[in-house]
Amino acid sequence: MSDLDLPAIPPSQITPEAHALSRRRWMQQAALGAAALGLGSRVRAEDSLAGAALPAQRNTDLSVDATLTTTHDATTYNNYYEFGTGKSDPSEEAGAMQLRPWQIQVEGEVAKPGTFDIDDLLALAPMEERIYRLRCVEAWSMVIPWSGYSLSHLLRAVGPTSQAKYVVFTTDMQPKNMPGLSAPILDWPYTEGLRIDEAMHPLTMLVFGMYGKVLPAQNGAPLRVIIPWKYGFKSAKSLVRIRLQAEQPVSSWMRAASNEYGFYANVNPAVPHPRWSQATERQIGGGLFAPRVPTLAFNGYAEQVASLYQGMDLRKNF
Ligand code: MTE
Repeated sequence: MSDLDLPAIPPSQITPEAHALSRRRWMQQAALGAAALGLGSRVRAEDSLAGAALPAQRNTDLSVDATLTTTHDATTYNNYYEFGTGKSDPSEEAGAMQLRPWQIQVEGEVAKPGTFDIDDLLALAPMEERIYRLRCVEAWSMVIPWSGYSLSHLLRAVGPTSQAKYVVFTTDMQPKNMPGLSAPILDWPYTEGLRIDEAMHPLTMLVFGMYGKVLPAQNGAPLRVIIPWKYGFKSAKSLVRIRLQAEQPVSSWMRAASNEYGFYANVNPAVPHPRWSQATERQIGGGLFAPRVPTLAFNGYAEQVASLYQGMDLRKNF
């Protein structure tokens, strides 16, 4: 990854759409969501294709109060190397992805391993909307309203055993539809991992939608994970397998360049990437001349997550 890619989008002002829509729309959607997602109700399969409305109740306790990145920026400036390394490759290519049928295998150190259909996972827990900061290791950032629920709901449902120390996420491979898979940039499939306490943290989210709608393919449809205090590469897209295991996994990025990408990858302005500083970031949508802003420890989530790393040397465990 490199921070030299400049946005392929024209410099745009801060979020006309997101701003105008924000309060009233989200309140309407929250009301809709409450009606549609009463206990035991389901999101119907026909309503769950990319772009369809995905009502969710705003979780204000777990949301930041920051200006949203525009939907346009968040869905056209992407990293999804299975579709190519250009920022616009995913939005141009990912429409070819096959999103149904879709199943997710949950396996390994769990009492109840199983294969979940995406439409059952959609209904496993109430949909929440959370506004999270997203900080890419390339030193750009966004603010995105994600829809989903804490990964812990799923993990509890399958019952981690005492040997479940780590969680491994594996992304789908569709060689016919993903031109990037033919390039040996990463050892495919894209694999990421968390420690079990990180995976169980309420901020760690299984995500099905953004901006009140079902996830577009380029953002990781039909489901991805989001870990807001870590660099964006930890947040693997289009998951097909979640494995619990005793050993710390080696992620795709660690395998590609272990001196540059560590297992923890907590956002840390004090530890530079070997090829660039992590002290500041470029806010996407701010325009080419906007000043960079300081990067926050744990991407601003230190209060909630710093205790997970007590006693660890975060320079070694980068
Ligand atoms: N997941 C897969 N499968 N492939 C990828 O290339 N890129 C990661 C992450 N998840 C990536 C991925 C990186 S580097 C970032 S910054 C985020 O996705 C970007 O998410 P976004 O495109 O929704 O903003």
